[in-house]
Amino acid sequence: MGTTMNDDAVQPKTMGQQFGRRSWAEPWKIKMVEPIKMTTREERERAIREAGFNTFLLKSEDVYIDLLTDSGTSAMSDRQWAGMMLGDEAYAGSRNFYHLEANIQKYYGYKYVVPTHQGRGAEHLISRALIEPGDVIPGNMYFTTTRAHQELQGGAFVDVIIDEAHDPQYEHPFKGNIDLDKLQAVIDKHGAEKIPYVSLAGTVNMAGGQPVSMENVRAVKALCDRHGIALYLDATRMAENAFFIQEREAGYANKSVAEILKEFCSYTDGAWMSAKKDSLVNIGGWLAVNSQEVYDIASNWVVVFEGLHTYGGMAGRDMEALAIGIEEQVQDDHMRSRIGQVRYLGGLLEEWGIPIVRPIGGHAIFLDAKRFYPEMPQDEFPAQTLAAELYLDSGIRAMERGIVSAGRNAATGDHNRPKLELVRLTIPRRVYTQAHMDVTAEAVKAVYDGAAGTCGLRMVYEPKYLRFFQARFERL
Ligand code: F0G
Repeated sequence: MGTTMNDDAVQPKTMGQQFGRRSWAEPWKIKMVEPIKMTTREERERAIREAGFNTFLLKSEDVYIDLLTDSGTSAMSDRQWAGMMLGDEAYAGSRNFYHLEANIQKYYGYKYVVPTHQGRGAEHLISRALIEPGDVIPGNMYFTTTRAHQELQGGAFVDVIIDEAHDPQYEHPFKGNIDLDKLQAVIDKHGAEKIPYVSLAGTVNMAGGQPVSMENVRAVKALCDRHGIALYLDATRMAENAFFIQEREAGYANKSVAEILKEFCSYTDGAWMSAKKDSLVNIGGWLAVNSQEVYDIASNWVVVFEGLHTYGGMAGRDMEALAIGIEEQVQDDHMRSRIGQVRYLGGLLEEWGIPIVRPIGGHAIFLDAKRFYPEMPQDEFPAQTLAAELYLDSGIRAMERGIVSAGRNAATGDHNRPKLELVRLTIPRRVYTQAHMDVTAEAVKAVYDGAAGTCGLRMVYEPKYLRFFQARFERL
């Protein structure tokens, strides 16, 4: 793949290349700042111990640069904040809901919209509406909450992503693609009647933010149609996926992110959304479908679990900020600088020989913890260890995406053992500067250079569901 898939304009340059260069910069300027605290090594040592070596359990006040997640951590624009003042907080029929509904219809193209408090609320509704006990749901690599809701309804998730996605070094422009042979094999084995839908995610989070091509979604749709199986999309970072299609797929260079997003969605029967990512808001989500029957079920369940079907757990002002965020997320300049910043950080790490997942994806840089600690067994949680060490070095907070996140096999109770043992440096949108990226890269390098002899961890508390959020560890 090499150089053709990378846009020169958003790659960091070496010193020699910098003469005569034309840099890119963000299409915004800063109007308000939020102070952050620097801590001492002793303070961090105490904080991470109290947090059971789990970065989810740190207090945000004890964090210097927070790269835990890009979820709900974006900076809103002045237009979005102005929209917050236009909240119509009526219990029923808020004007902001109709604005949100209109923008989901306009930019994603689905007919019916059910608002939810965030993504997992929508995952709950779609899983409850479509899954029967004993069903099988094929998808392009699991996501933690998505799979949890599928399993809670008695379904079993089956991974049908292409093999290359499990290899952190493999260069592939669309490493999030579904392997059509694997999908066909699942259909042959279980029968189409046991498969309520195929679960397709844009820029696959657990694979390193890797995109799905338009060609692939078209082919998956055709295969699903042949067997009468529905295709539902996790649209959480689908606008970022659209950017990669524009950059890498033949025939899309002159189409806008907005056009590509809408075309992609047109091959699917509906989508669930964590609006806390692409859509530049701090809270919110939705489910949108084309089937009136599915809508009727979901919009009935939403009143039991989330709120009335015209707010679903969001305040009116939150729906307004989200409606505006949907317009901003598809601006090509915005997307170019968003992904450009992720690539800036990744480019520095690569230049310094730090092992990261290739190619660089949409929302984060993923450190390959197995190659930081080649001697450490997976049962001693290398990625959990690396995230703790990075915090100790510099107050930077990252997230484990390895064996802890993968949880246990629902049937056997053993650890799921993913091939990828990663630490995610997730970049919030419109929040940090290039200097923050420099500081981050230098901290990662310091931890990499000092990795020899690092001890792993032992899990001392393990909650039953989504254990990575609340598990506690001790040093071995
Ligand atoms: N789908 C994907 C691909 C996600 O990344 C997330 C959340 C969800 C669904 C669930 O949405 O958090 O709004 O309930 N991902 C966050 C993350 C937690 O840090 O990657 P939610």
